[in-house]
Amino acid sequence: METGTEVLRRLRLAAPIIQGPFGGGLSAVDLVVAVSESGGLGSFGMHHLEPRGMRDITTRIRARTARPFALNLWIPHQGSNDPQLSESQWNAALDLLRPWFEELRVAIPDRPARFSPRYEEQVETLLELKPAVFSFVFGVPDPQILDRCRSAGIATLGAATTPDEAKLLSDAGVDMIVATGMEAGGHRVSFLREPEDCLTGTLALVPAVVDTVRVPVIAAGGIVEGRGVEAALALGASAAQIGTAFLACEESAAPPLHRQMLFSEAARRTSLTRAFTGRLARGIHNEFIEKFRGKESLLPPYPVQGWLTGKLREAAVNAGRADVLSLWSGQGAPLLKHRKARELFVDLATGTRR
Ligand SMILES: Cc1cc2nc3c(=O)[nH]c(=O)nc-3n(C[C@H](O)[C@H](O)[C@H](O)COP(=O)(O)O)c2cc1C
Repeated sequence: METGTEVLRRLRLAAPIIQGPFGGGLSAVDLVVAVSESGGLGSFGMHHLEPRGMRDITTRIRARTARPFALNLWIPHQGSNDPQLSESQWNAALDLLRPWFEELRVAIPDRPARFSPRYEEQVETLLELKPAVFSFVFGVPDPQILDRCRSAGIATLGAATTPDEAKLLSDAGVDMIVATGMEAGGHRVSFLREPEDCLTGTLALVPAVVDTVRVPVIAAGGIVEGRGVEAALALGASAAQIGTAFLACEESAAPPLHRQMLFSEAARRTSLTRAFTGRLARGIHNEFIEKFRGKESLLPPYPVQGWLTGKLREAAVNAGRADVLSLWSGQGAPLLKHRKARELFVDLATGTRR
């Protein structure tokens, strides 16, 4: 059987740089193509897409690059595949957000039949699409899925926020592990304990995971330039996964307001919040986060809150309301320099020279 290091070699990367996937519509074909064509691994976050959308995006990527790329899904976690809410819980969830629906003049939505696509259908579609890499967060796929990936030549890349999670992934036969430090932008992808209890930084987490598993470890969280990549490799990582710095590039699907905020003074303060989705995630601190401080236990479970705030998103973007929008960002934002993915890639690759 191929080792994880051989799997990484099979990807034929010019530099061990992975562009982290972004869920919820922030990944972009342009970004995946720019990174994969530069010799890194582009990734597309698909957890919010139905099979038809997954196929469409993959066709569009393949029309523009023959290089490897990753497709990313979220493993169902804590009932997230189909949360059951009573009528009174649904009404309470609406009441919490009513002031913003009124202020932004967005109609209160009807309750949907489901709040997110079916994971089982997504994973079947992914197997049919056969990307070079299946990356995933929030758990470990079933053994049959991992077997089918292996038979199809799809490399697997799971995420860990603690050495225990990394061990579980590696014992299950996952090919490579992303060790995600608490500096990272977006969701805290812990699955064994509450994310609030899994806040180790990249500098301490990466070597601890390297010492725990034998598969290649990919460092993520707070890496935005060549120096960070060099540090990650010095800690024993085989590659680095970069999110925020690629999100800030014009090829990403982040709205211009979000990208502008990443380069602003405001990005010096990020915080971890459940306010936008019901799950803990890091973003630029704003008034929306502030308003939910101390009230997070009242929020409906993931993905209900994410579905509801998603209905406010377009109106918030159109109104230029950075105080209401989720401005996902890692702690590395104050170091951002590049607005073009190919230039960022060249900078990151300088960290791999030694
Ligand atoms: C807006 C945003 C969305 C993200 N969505 C996903 C996702 O759907 N799946 C995933 O595996 N990682 C996701 N991540 C994590 C990134 O892929 C990457 O691991 C992380 O951003 C690295 O930390 P950094 O932001 O400090 O570079 C997301 C990150 C951000 C900023």
